[in-house]
Amino acid sequence: MKSVVILISGRGSNMQALLEADLPCRIAAVISNRADAQGLEIARTRGIPTAVVPHRDYADRASFDAALAAAIDRHAPDVIALAGFMRILTDHFVERYRGKLINIHPSLLPAYPGIDTHERALRDGIKIHGCTVHFVTPTLDHGPIIIQAAVPVLRDDTPESLSARVLGEEHRVYAQAIRWLCRGQVWLNKESRTASDRLEQPGAALVFPGLE
Ligand code: GAR
Repeated sequence: MKSVVILISGRGSNMQALLEADLPCRIAAVISNRADAQGLEIARTRGIPTAVVPHRDYADRASFDAALAAAIDRHAPDVIALAGFMRILTDHFVERYRGKLINIHPSLLPAYPGIDTHERALRDGIKIHGCTVHFVTPTLDHGPIIIQAAVPVLRDDTPESLSARVLGEEHRVYAQAIRWLCRGQVWLNKESRTASDRLEQPGAALVFPGLE
């Protein structure tokens, strides 16, 4: 059975959704760069091995990434899932895990890379927002996309209400992406594009506000 290591920095709701998703793979460990990440406690109560690699203990990104890689490699995972892991990783680290390292981001990439995605979406008045699971490549929040979910932006939305709607979809699509990866149904090909043997391509449009 394939194995997954999950990297977190805080709350860990995506991690929790993955632990509860009945995936066709083993969650080998949860690793955080912060000892106070709430998700660590959730993982421990479920008997998942945890580790902390505190970024502040390292002089630079390269030495932190080397320590993080050592903690990951102890579990020899097939997939490394960033789930609210809020550190920028070096190119060297990203290349080392090419095709195995995935991330979830709270926007429909390539729109709104970086932070404060929901505030920026509301400011721009967009009508459809969402989340993206993608392979991690050296350019921040720009890797080949595996799956996206779109949600409507409602008239009275606040960053909090929009974030909650998107988060509900994050929990669904992250589990789906990992299911495909672990079954070998999705992969990163030689041309650095997402490839898939999945044939279903339903073409329904998502229109919001709805047409009359
Ligand atoms: C999630 O919304 C995730 O998409 C986002 O942080 C949140 C973590 O929540 N990640 C990023 O912004 C990465 N660029 P969680 O700890 O409850 O899963």
